[in-house]
Amino acid sequence: MKKILLINGPNLNLLGTREPEIYGATTLDELVADLAKRATSGGVELVAFQSNHEGEIIDCIQREASGCVGLIINPGAFTHYSYAIRDAIVSVVIQTIEVHISNVYSRESFRHKSVIAPVCVGQISGLGINGYIAALTWFMDRIN
Ligand code: DQA
Repeated sequence: MKKILLINGPNLNLLGTREPEIYGATTLDELVADLAKRATSGGVELVAFQSNHEGEIIDCIQREASGCVGLIINPGAFTHYSYAIRDAIVSVVIQTIEVHISNVYSRESFRHKSVIAPVCVGQISGLGINGYIAALTWFMDRIN
């Protein structure tokens, strides 16, 4: 079974309680369970990982990329400054979609820049958790 890697970065373990007016009421466990179910019914396996640590995210990309056909990543605040995560994506050569729950362009100016989006197929921002579903659907359509 083909695999898709899902990575959530710092503070996304707090989904459901973290600024719910921005990030919604769904917990990370609920989100991952929903995506895993959708993946399974599309004949794909979801490999889900969350970390608050940049190095652990890089280790995960290096470890899992060769076995996965795509990467869906919400890098959290690392989006805006982690050249190391960007380099990891380029190094392992994996098609990547960057997802943000909130519309980063309608928020503080420091969120308007992504150093990771230029090495991604695309970026989804502001659709809430539906952004993850859209990214997963895109990969599944391409695989099947
Ligand atoms: C976020 C947006 C980032 O700016 C922020 O640091 C996050 C979450 C989003 O999903 O909207 O942690 O990536």
